Amino acid sequence: MGAVKGLVLSGGKGTRLRPITHTGAKQLVPIANKPVLFYALEALVEAGVTEIGIVVGDTAEEIREAVGDGSRFGARVEYIPQSAPLGLAHAVQTAKPYLGGSDFVMYLGDNFIPGGISQVVRQFQEKRPDSLILLKAMPHPERFGVAELEGERVVRLTEKPEVPRSDLVLVGVYLFQPSILEAVDAIEPSPRGELEITDAIQWEIDHGRSVLPHVVAGRWIDTGKMDDLLECNRVVLDMLPERREGRASEDCRLLGKVILEEGSQVIGSTIRGPAIVGAHTRVVDSYVGPFTALYHHVVLEGSEIEHSIVLENTCIRGVSKIEDSLIGRDVVVEKSGTRPLAHKLMLGDHSRVSLA
Ligand code: G1P
Repeated sequence: MGAVKGLVLSGGKGTRLRPITHTGAKQLVPIANKPVLFYALEALVEAGVTEIGIVVGDTAEEIREAVGDGSRFGARVEYIPQSAPLGLAHAVQTAKPYLGGSDFVMYLGDNFIPGGISQVVRQFQEKRPDSLILLKAMPHPERFGVAELEGERVVRLTEKPEVPRSDLVLVGVYLFQPSILEAVDAIEPSPRGELEITDAIQWEIDHGRSVLPHVVAGRWIDTGKMDDLLECNRVVLDMLPERREGRASEDCRLLGKVILEEGSQVIGSTIRGPAIVGAHTRVVDSYVGPFTALYHHVVLEGSEIEHSIVLENTCIRGVSKIEDSLIGRDVVVEKSGTRPLAHKLMLGDHSRVSLA
């Protein structure tokens, strides 16, 4: 039996995260100051999967720049350009030359499983089904692929059904034998115009192939939407060990777990952890509340922020109080000093603002 390869999908439009995704890949949005995609790569390597193909689309350049040749992760990464986001099964078709008849783990680059995938990779290698799918009971199953089980048997999979017949949804991690390649060639595009991996696995069920379920015991977060991203940030900040590579002046109060990354400075401020202050970020006369991640080169002055993610090079001055927010790169949010005292906005397409 050859090595199991990894196939990480890192294309897609990320429409549910606009405007952030107008200018960047959704898989590179940082969770506790690390791109969500990196957690996927680490989970694969931890499970012994070190040959990884990353399927890329419009944001190929940015993904390549962030991940490189994979050596940093202990992996060998190759890039597989997908001509258009035509579905997960289309991505598998595109990757056929790379996969070259190997078993593989397909991992959607914006999915996050805190417990990793080592156990399920072992289960796949021991039982050798044609496909092994990960499932999780979720509210609003109609937003996902939905599975129906009879005992240990998967009897039906439906992509985003109007009326779900169970609450078990397909997690974005799948283990396949090369037999899936026949299935992805046999199916037709779905109503949303995509070749669905859900339909390909259903084709396997219909043709008597073995499809095993694995219900994820711990958490699973699909970070494709802002609320889920903030939730993921919360979960990861809770798990991380404390690190103090930056500096805090003596008049600061750092309460609970506060991570200061290299070159960060905190002056005259209170930080209530868990929170992370990124490299070369400055926090001055401010309050940073729990579950906040300020990425690198951010400036926070005379402001209060909590339960939020702020991306790089953003500057927030004189603003109280920001909560439950995702703020992009190179953004300026500041208190207006001039009359009339009005909200003066310059917002990108698809921005969302909730004023107090
Ligand atoms: C895709 C799959 C769906 C699965 C989900 C998990 O949905 O089609 O079956 O439940 O990923 O994240 P999409 O993100 O393309 O809407």
